[in-house]
Amino acid sequence: MPTALVTGASAGIGRALAHALADRGYHLVLVSRDAARLGALATSLPSSGSSHQVLAADLATVDGCRTVERRLQDKGHPVDLLVNNAGIAPSRPFPDNPVEAEEAVLDLNVRAVLRLTHAALPGMVARRSGGVLNVASVAALGPGWLASTYPPSKSWVLAFTESVGRSRHVRRAGVRMTAVLPGYTTTEFHARACIATENFPARMWLSPDRVAERALRDLERGRTVSIPDARYRLICWALRHLPRPVVLPWCWDPSGTAELDDVDAPADHDGQQPVSVRR
Ligand SMILES: NC(=O)c1ccc[n+]([C@@H]2O[C@H](COP(=O)([O-])OP(=O)(O)OC[C@H]3O[C@@H](n4cnc5c(N)ncnc54)[C@H](OP(=O)(O)O)[C@@H]3O)[C@@H](O)[C@H]2O)c1
Repeated sequence: MPTALVTGASAGIGRALAHALADRGYHLVLVSRDAARLGALATSLPSSGSSHQVLAADLATVDGCRTVERRLQDKGHPVDLLVNNAGIAPSRPFPDNPVEAEEAVLDLNVRAVLRLTHAALPGMVARRSGGVLNVASVAALGPGWLASTYPPSKSWVLAFTESVGRSRHVRRAGVRMTAVLPGYTTTEFHARACIATENFPARMWLSPDRVAERALRDLERGRTVSIPDARYRLICWALRHLPRPVVLPWCWDPSGTAELDDVDAPADHDGQQPVSVRR
C-alpha cells in the first residue's frame, strides 16, 4: 500500500487531498499543529490496512520541520507521495505587519516546502519512484494581491517545483513534481488571514474537493503545473503572457484602491527627476 504524507491536512484543501488519497488506497501520514483534529480525521478516513498516522508539528519552526523530516527519511516506512499543502497569508498589509509575522509566512510557505522536499527526494530518487505535490496559488503568477509577501512566497513554490521537478536528475528517476495553482477556494484560509470575501465574485469560488481531484489527476499524468478550473487557466495564461503594464492595474490592494498617483517623490541622490509612485 503506498504512503502519502500531507501537510495542513486538518482543514481545507489538505483535508480534501487526504480524503481523495485515502479513497485511492493510500496509507496517510497527516500533519498539522492540531493533533486532535487530525486524529478525528484519521479515524473517519477509509483505510485498507493499518490506521492512518497523525504527526503534530508546527512547520513554521525548524524543530517542527525536523519532526516531519525524520518521518520522511524513515527507510523502513518510505513515503511515496509528499504533499506540501500547509500555507498561510499575512493578516495585515506589509507595512503594518510585524516583521515576525511576515517571516512566519515565508517560514511555512517557503522554508518548510524546501526542507520537506529536500528530506523526501533522495529516497524517492534512489527508489526510482515517488511524487511531490506543492500547493502554490494563482497568486504565484503575479502580484495579484499587493502589499503582501504571500504572492512572492507562492511564486517561489512554483519556480522551485518547475526547477527541481523538471531537472534531469529527478525526471530520469521517474519522480514527479507538480505545483497546484488554486484560485479562490472555500476553506478556512481567508478567515484565518482576516480577508473579507463578500466582494469576491461568487462564481469564481472552487470547492477543495475539485482542487484535490484535479491536482492528483495532473500529478498522475506527469504535469508540472495543475490549475483546477478552465476560468483560472485563462487567468493564468493572461498573467503569464500579457505585458506587466496591462496586468498590474488589475491587482488587488487590501489596504485601499491601487491607484497610480503622481506624487512629488523626493529627487534621488543623483538629482534625477521625481518619479511616479504607487501609493
Ligand atoms: N483557499 C484559497 O483560496 C487558496 C487559494 C490558493 C492557494 N491556497 C493554498 O492552499 C493551501 C491550503 O490552504 P487552505 O485554503 O486549505 O487553508 P486552510 O483551510 O486555512 O488550511 C490550512 C492548513 O494549514 C495548516 N497549517 C497552518 N499553519 C501551520 C503551521 N504553522 N504548521 C503546520 N500546519 C499549519 C492548518 O492546520 P492547523 O491550523 O491545524 O495547523 C490547516 O490544516 C495553502 O498553501 C494556501 O496558500 C489556498
